[in-house]
Amino acid sequence: MMKRFALFSSIVFASALSLNAADLLTEAKQAGLQPLPKDQNGVEVILKKNGIAFSKFSKEKAELGKKLYFEPRLSKSGLISCNTCHNLGMGGADGIAAAVGHRWKANPHHLNSPTVYNSVLNSTQFWDGRAQTLADQAKGPIEAKPEMATPAKLAVEKISSLPEYQAAFTKIYGKSGVTFDNIADAIATFERTLLTPSRFDKFLAGDSKALSKNEQAGLKMFIDKGCAACHNGVNLGGSMQAFEVAGKYKFAKLGNFKGDSNGMVKTPTLRNIAETAPYFHNGGIWSLTDAIKEMGSTQLGISINDEEAKSIETFLKALTGDKPTITYPQLPIATEKTPKPEL
Ligand code: HEC
Ligand code: HEC
Repeated sequence: MMKRFALFSSIVFASALSLNAADLLTEAKQAGLQPLPKDQNGVEVILKKNGIAFSKFSKEKAELGKKLYFEPRLSKSGLISCNTCHNLGMGGADGIAAAVGHRWKANPHHLNSPTVYNSVLNSTQFWDGRAQTLADQAKGPIEAKPEMATPAKLAVEKISSLPEYQAAFTKIYGKSGVTFDNIADAIATFERTLLTPSRFDKFLAGDSKALSKNEQAGLKMFIDKGCAACHNGVNLGGSMQAFEVAGKYKFAKLGNFKGDSNGMVKTPTLRNIAETAPYFHNGGIWSLTDAIKEMGSTQLGISINDEEAKSIETFLKALTGDKPTITYPQLPIATEKTPKPEL
């Protein structure tokens, strides 16, 4: 009799548990949370849905783009590559409040470097959303004075002076060869591969054990508090949203960023968020708990207590994903024609 009862109750208990996870899964889907695509075809489905242009993917092009991503000669000084500020070993960011670029100068608007991981799935790029495609985006920092400070013409001259690049561009792009557009396209193609699937994606795919009980409770808290109203989709962010909806941001005076012409700000992805402190457009907040609480007061008009913030944080930490293995590229040797670095 005892045995039967124990068996019965453990069945009831187990099904109650899985029912909760199943309910939570339904709730997460209804809140618009989606798993990362499994391959490049899946990436293209999302880009098409968002109306974002892209070029044909090939491994060869991504490999060329990887070299250019790590290529410091794309900067005027010969010292700064994309990886300087978007370090692939550091969550795709730099770990400092305001990005530091050419001549060691901090970003004039005190802007923080967002992560490049999963950035292809944002519906818009930059804090003010001024670029839609990664290719358009990539041209910005190469030319920007506070970043790499290399005018397009000089960038093309530098890359063309390296025969190995010349050959690779001709092979991939045909007659057009090394152009500024093709440089940006190759880098963007590499960035498409920077996807970081996490246990959360497994949970969304129906594996109820992929998240611990505490992480599931945190996910529920995240949805119930209203975070997913803006942090949704595959990136739990990536679209333009109003900022300071309910209250002033504590560090609003740091730098002079005011959002786009309507005061909207690109909602950062929350994937790998535990790795990308400091937070917000100006890197004003170092602690993830504090960032969560700040969202309560600025965006939701609620006060989030320590316990609630910790619970949400527990969930957010489960968004730390597996990074693709990246072999550090060997870069072509300079020739006599290669323009010299200038500081
Ligand atoms: C000096 C540091 C620095 C360098 C070098 C740099 N970036 Fe950035 N990157 C930033 C900052 C700061 C922003 C945000 C700027 C803004 O919104 O105006 C940014 C934004 C981005 C974004 C948009 C992400 C998002 O979520 O909005 C991508 C993608 C990106 N950079 C890729 C690159 C690539 C590719 C290169 C190399 C060609 C590069 N960056 C070079 C600092 C840098
Ligand atoms: C109304 C839309 C909206 C809501 C609701 C919202 N956020 Fe945000 N979130 C944003 C925007 C926009 C930013 C960027 C603000 C900035 O830096 O200027 C942001 C930034 C963040 C950041 C910093 C990310 C980074 O990389 O710098 C975290 C963490 C965050 N939100 C978590 C949350 C949590 C947790 C909740 C729920 C308690 C929440 N957000 C609710 C729109 C929203």
